[in-house]
Amino acid sequence: MFSNHGLSDPTAEQAKLLIIAAASETCKKLLPAANAIFYPEAPRWILIVKIHNSYYNCAVKEHSSKMEVQMLKVVNTSVAIDTFAGTTRNQSKDCLKKWLNTVQCLDCVEAMKQLPSNCVDLVVTSPPYDGIRKYNGFQCDLHATGEEILRILKDGGIAVMVIQDQTKNFAKTLTSFRTIIDWCDNIGLRLFETVIYRKHGTEGAWWKYRFRVDHEYMPIFLKGARPQYFNKEPLKILSKHGGKVMTGSGNRRTDGKTTKTVTRKINKKKCRGTVWNYLMAGDKNKLKRKHPAVFPDKIPYDIIQCFCPPDGIVLDPFMGSGSTAVASKILKRNYIGFEISQEYCNLSTERIKETQMSLFD
Ligand SMILES: C[S@@+](CC[C@H](N)C(=O)[O-])C[C@H]1O[C@@H](n2cnc3c(N)ncnc32)[C@H](O)[C@@H]1O
Repeated sequence: MFSNHGLSDPTAEQAKLLIIAAASETCKKLLPAANAIFYPEAPRWILIVKIHNSYYNCAVKEHSSKMEVQMLKVVNTSVAIDTFAGTTRNQSKDCLKKWLNTVQCLDCVEAMKQLPSNCVDLVVTSPPYDGIRKYNGFQCDLHATGEEILRILKDGGIAVMVIQDQTKNFAKTLTSFRTIIDWCDNIGLRLFETVIYRKHGTEGAWWKYRFRVDHEYMPIFLKGARPQYFNKEPLKILSKHGGKVMTGSGNRRTDGKTTKTVTRKINKKKCRGTVWNYLMAGDKNKLKRKHPAVFPDKIPYDIIQCFCPPDGIVLDPFMGSGSTAVASKILKRNYIGFEISQEYCNLSTERIKETQMSLFD
């Protein structure tokens, strides 16, 4: 099925040449023979090829008359085959209607299998990990969750996970790091950034021989070569010396030399760094308090503004008390939610209903 120009099993180099040929405007007619799929609306050509029994998602970009190929291994072959079969974005929209702006009481992996490929702009979630909370006895498979997330995300889509590790016998379980490596090395997502979620306003657990943990990790995964949408403006923070004229030493360059000292007026606001601060006591919501492990609504609120286009779709496969849906509703984005516990599913649906916004008009 994937034999390329008689190269039934090409080497990586042969495949790259083939992709470059297929990507050139005049060679578009070769695409079916090259077993590659062409997305006319994408900023670059996205192609799938099979090399030594593995599927690769290739992004081709023209760089001052030079073709550049980025190849990303797709471990879940159903992703390659689904994409190859030509699941188009428009087809996806119709199958999605029944899921939009609902929280369904379903196991998220089984539920995601029913969604079409390449249909979701952003995933924001906090999965259960290390059996820390009971969640009415339900568990999840993080590897299978990652595989489905990769499949259903659009090219350039983002998935953000809030996660920590349990400490057992004075050592961390490493579930967070293992999941990041698994999702990147074995599944095919790419790590865009890891943000530290710094929790304020909570004492945290006190232990005689341990520090008081006041942070969690927020790995930000990317599908494909680059984010399809990125708007960091709403996330900007106040500069400490905003408005003042200051002289500072230059930055250190990669060759070790420093750039010239500059004198300039400091902007009132600056780009947010990679430690994000949130007040835990912020969401004084009676319904939300009924869930044992929530994140502040401001987390999905910030992430959605940054990574989800205005008409986009946000998915939370572990919806819990509905924080991601509430933020999506306020920001006038569509959401899809899955939650395995009927109790929490009802809780999130009730919270979303009471969110006072005139939305989805
Ligand atoms: C950490 S909580 C999410 C909390 C949410 N971020 C909030 O702010 O309310 C994880 C949720 O995943 C749910 N869950 C566990 N296994 C699941 C599965 N296989 N499919 C869907 N939901 C599951 C649990 O019931 C729990 O409500």
